[in-house]
Amino acid sequence: MDIKEAIKERHSVRQYSSDHIIGDVRTSLEKCINECNEESGLHIQLITDDPECFDTLLSHYGKFSGVNNYIAIVGSKKLDNLEELGGYYGEKIVLEAQMLGLNTCWVAGTYGKSKCKADVDANEKIVCVIAIGYGLNKGTNHKTKDLSKLCGVTEKDMPAWFREGMEAALLAPTAINQQKFFIDIDGEEAVIKAGFGPFAKLDLGIVRYNFEAACGHRCKAI
Ligand SMILES: Cc1cc2nc3c(=O)[nH]c(=O)nc-3n(C[C@H](O)[C@H](O)[C@H](O)COP(=O)(O)O)c2cc1C
Repeated sequence: MDIKEAIKERHSVRQYSSDHIIGDVRTSLEKCINECNEESGLHIQLITDDPECFDTLLSHYGKFSGVNNYIAIVGSKKLDNLEELGGYYGEKIVLEAQMLGLNTCWVAGTYGKSKCKADVDANEKIVCVIAIGYGLNKGTNHKTKDLSKLCGVTEKDMPAWFREGMEAALLAPTAINQQKFFIDIDGEEAVIKAGFGPFAKLDLGIVRYNFEAACGHRCKAI
């Protein structure tokens, strides 16, 4: 599976089997996390075999079951783009996980924050977590807004690369599926702006990664 297929096949999965993340899959996932941390300065961590973080009323209400593994998106409070960076690199890891045969779900609300086992320094905070493991299902397609409502380029003026990026942006996960972003073209690059809504900056980073990974053109946040 390549990254474009991973973008299409990724859906939020909330029910997991008890299979452990081991062997080559684990090694590749950890390698990707380490590379993301080196590049970004974030402190993203994989926590495995810990059922407690998703054993709360809120998580059961959110229909989560069997979540024994999660990725904690952690970084310095001093970074003014911490949420956006967390979204960007978290989505890179999510798509790598998809290519490794794993399933995921971004979770900013319905998990036990006080039970999260991440190692968090005094100057750091947990942005959110991502449930990860072998899903009992593959999830489903989310409803999406019209492409024309999320970008400032008309069909006739849209280069092929921009359309490819936009289609991947539409498939990106966003908090409560809000899709509060707007993408425009700027020469050979794209620019993305977050709207107002919960976790809109986190969404911005996620969508930006999907766009760039699909079409290979930079998408700058403004
Ligand atoms: C930043 C962020 C936070 C999210 N928080 C939660 C959450 O707290 N609980 C939950 O069940 N799903 C959560 N989700 C998953 C979204 O509901 C889901 O991504 C969206 O409905 C689109 O569906 P899809 O991921 O299957 O494409 C979150 C997603 C994002 C991107």
